[in-house]
Amino acid sequence: MDQLNTIDHDLNETMTTLATIEEIVQAKESVFGKKGSLTQIMKQFRDASTEDRPLLGQKVNQIKAKYLNAFDHQIRRLEKQQLDEQLMSESVDIFLPGTRPLMGGLHPIRQAEKDLISACESLGFSMVKGPIIEDTFHNFEALNIPDTHPSRDMHDTFYLNNHHVLRTHTSSVQIRHMLKTPPPLKMLSSGPVFRCDSDRTHSPMFHQMEGLYVNHKVTLPELKYTLDALLKTFFEDDHLIRFRSSYFPFTEPSFEVDIQFKKTGEWMEVLGAGMVHRNVFRSVNYNPDDVSGFAFGLGIDRLAMLKYGIEDIRAFYENDTRFLRQGAPC
Ligand code: PHE
Repeated sequence: MDQLNTIDHDLNETMTTLATIEEIVQAKESVFGKKGSLTQIMKQFRDASTEDRPLLGQKVNQIKAKYLNAFDHQIRRLEKQQLDEQLMSESVDIFLPGTRPLMGGLHPIRQAEKDLISACESLGFSMVKGPIIEDTFHNFEALNIPDTHPSRDMHDTFYLNNHHVLRTHTSSVQIRHMLKTPPPLKMLSSGPVFRCDSDRTHSPMFHQMEGLYVNHKVTLPELKYTLDALLKTFFEDDHLIRFRSSYFPFTEPSFEVDIQFKKTGEWMEVLGAGMVHRNVFRSVNYNPDDVSGFAFGLGIDRLAMLKYGIEDIRAFYENDTRFLRQGAPC
């Protein structure tokens, strides 16, 4: 009984000093475990007298009831405390500003192309696609640029072999479309074109958009109206435009079209245009006495440079994200 009283007394004291779960588990084990002090004492009960046994048993039960619950309660309390501390340390301040993901945006050329296409579509033109690798018939001959003609020199061409080139303009798409479609038609073609040329305002690959309208009596004023409306929509402003006589093998008469910038009063050349040459109609089996048409072609890169105030065409192709990020997010 003395030993039991000592255990009771010791437990009473240690209970107050236990601070961690490990300490509690250890203390519990050292008394109630298989090799614990109380378990050892209980083994000696066999030797005790019959009157003492119930008293001893009572005391053991008392000790168990008093401390086992207390130990478990203490362990649960500490576990909860630990969990609370962990949750506090992992807590997220939902009011902190977030990190913005980098948004992609349209490339300025793509943006300009989109705007030009939608301006033309609102004037009744529809988009037609064509190949980038072109044969010399569609790129030159059918457009009234015969093999020996000096105007071939106007296009510094990348030849793939004697008969195939990287298209030097998107006019080849017009030939393909006219060969498949009887008049009337009002079409657009747009995309990359290639010429061996490279400096601040020329890139060996640039983008063109061309329009073609063929009908029974298409007139020059219709061309002028169309270009006026197109440029007004694209530049979102009222500019004066002027036609200067020029030469293209596939149009007659031919013009360079200039636009006047209000701020500086400066005239800038923005596109080429003209009435479709009779020989072009012949090469697509249209009767030139029956139909007439106008065509225009513009450099998308050049128009984007003018609209966004970009001075070097190469900025479009250097993939500097500081430049590209200026674009409107998709
Ligand atoms: N295809 C011409 C070029 O690339 C542009 C153009 C098209 C000019 C239509 C006049 C008419 O130079």
